Amino acid sequence: MSGRVSGLVALVTGAASGIGLATSRHLLKSGAKVGAIDISTNLKSTCDTLGKEFGSSNIAYLPCDVSDDDALKSAFKETKEQFGSLDIVVNNAGIFDEDNWGKLLKVNLQSVISGTYNAMELMSPDKGGVIVNTSSIAGLRPGTHLFCPAYSAAKSGIIAFTKAMKNNLELRGIKIRINSICPAGVETPLVLEAAKLFYSMPQPIIDAVTASSSTEVMKPEFIAEGIMELITDASKNGAILMAEPDKGFTYVEE
Ligand SMILES: NC(=O)c1ccc[n+]([C@@H]2O[C@H](COP(=O)([O-])OP(=O)(O)OC[C@H]3O[C@@H](n4cnc5c(N)ncnc54)[C@H](O)[C@@H]3O)[C@@H](O)[C@H]2O)c1
Repeated sequence: MSGRVSGLVALVTGAASGIGLATSRHLLKSGAKVGAIDISTNLKSTCDTLGKEFGSSNIAYLPCDVSDDDALKSAFKETKEQFGSLDIVVNNAGIFDEDNWGKLLKVNLQSVISGTYNAMELMSPDKGGVIVNTSSIAGLRPGTHLFCPAYSAAKSGIIAFTKAMKNNLELRGIKIRINSICPAGVETPLVLEAAKLFYSMPQPIIDAVTASSSTEVMKPEFIAEGIMELITDASKNGAILMAEPDKGFTYVEE
């Protein structure tokens, strides 16, 4: 799968807000159909709004908790049943809840792994497909994200899984590309949760993080553009794309 997304079927988790919503909108604008997965009660109104803009038959409303493997699998199957195929998956849903780190690992990492296996089961062996997993700069630079070690671990795990799975798929001759996006701060409700925790930290931690990271934030629409590049550029496989407010997009080598 490469090039245009028009006529293709995508599934996006965390589609009710932030990066997932911006990506769903981008995909719909480019002519794809979208299975929109989220746990938020806002998902219904989001789907109604997107339906009015891009055609209600092009969006599937799929309320689901991504940390529930069975429910997630059903939502993946529902997308394929409704639209006839599954070509693009964006495993994006996430939380910032360092206290509830068990739940955080399930939502932020386990669901990316189960979402990838669901995609492998449902994507056409002939046509193939593409998966994009939303990691974070915290996954690339866990040492500088010392205020959120569990979040960083989950996001590092996504990068490791993406790289290992790329080689796994390639060596088995499976025509699915898999990439990951690693944004720094993005203007969404999640970053407000992160800021709340950050500013409650002891001063030495605040000082250390401030010295090593920018407090500027990017728009979710900007991150969606990076995700679209990872979807449409057939040369990108196993790619880890970092997004920073001052430097823009950078592909991270080994
Ligand atoms: N905002 C940032 O600064 C930033 C930076 C790097 C990476 N990210 C990552 O980007 C992704 C999207 O986050 P965002 O910034 O757009 O935040 P957001 O809060 O705007 O969106 C996250 C969405 O995930 C949904 N979600 C949460 N738990 C869920 C569950 N159990 N099942 C289904 N849906 C669930 C939420 O309801 C929400 O709609 C996350 O994986 C996040 O870790 C965010």
